[in-house]
Amino acid sequence: MAKNTSKSPQKICLKNKIEVAKFSSEMIDQQLFMNKNSVIGLATGSTPHQTYRELIKIHVSRQRSWAQVKTVNLDEYYGVHRNNTQSYNYYMHMQLFNYIDIRKCNILLPNGTTSDPIAEAKNYEKKITDIGGIDLWLIGIGSNGHIGFNEPGSSRKSRTRLVNLSDTTITDNSRFFDKEIDVPTQAITVGIATIMEARKILLLATGKNKSRAINAALNEPIGPNCPASFLRQHPDCTFLVDEAAAELCKSDFS
Ligand code: GLP
Repeated sequence: MAKNTSKSPQKICLKNKIEVAKFSSEMIDQQLFMNKNSVIGLATGSTPHQTYRELIKIHVSRQRSWAQVKTVNLDEYYGVHRNNTQSYNYYMHMQLFNYIDIRKCNILLPNGTTSDPIAEAKNYEKKITDIGGIDLWLIGIGSNGHIGFNEPGSSRKSRTRLVNLSDTTITDNSRFFDKEIDVPTQAITVGIATIMEARKILLLATGKNKSRAINAALNEPIGPNCPASFLRQHPDCTFLVDEAAAELCKSDFS
């Protein structure tokens, strides 16, 4: 394991996605061990799959309870009902929630079928504030550098809102759908300011198709061209990647 000791972002490169999943699940478990009332921010996409599997194993083997934990997700497709198999709500239940003892009332995801996305967004921010903010937010990164669904062009000050997905994201996410035309074109996502308020952030990236985004996030000017670059301004953020994702910036991780 190569580890950089500068304060933030901390940069950790591990061999492959299995090691990334084990390390990330241990970080989340450490948070739950320290505080059983933790508020954990969660992400969807293929990257955290294995992390959720490890967390389920830990839940069983260490009897780590989620009964008092609250979770907050980054985003949800707009126009997709929570029971639809393509919704992020469905994903979270299938990947994690159905296998741990979390209480339904402690799960927060945007309502993708609201007729009033402005009110939904405002309410989502209020709910996050009311539960005391996020202790640790696990996030992924899009191949274009997006975090949540904050696409390139998103402001550092952005808050939860309805957004249009970029063509790159629609193409990337089409692998989960029968046809590209089936991919939703809008989503409700928390903003960059919302993510930056988390007390700790853990960004995961695995695979070669994330190498350009990771390089841009760490080395290009901080700004809306690469939304993940804003994370460099966070006081406690870790970039946890595998060797393939670090390919274009190996020296950052040495
Ligand atoms: C979606 C999610 C992001 C996630 C990204 C990467 O766009 N909104 O939160 O980081 O997918 O997905 P994957 O891990 O499948 O590459």
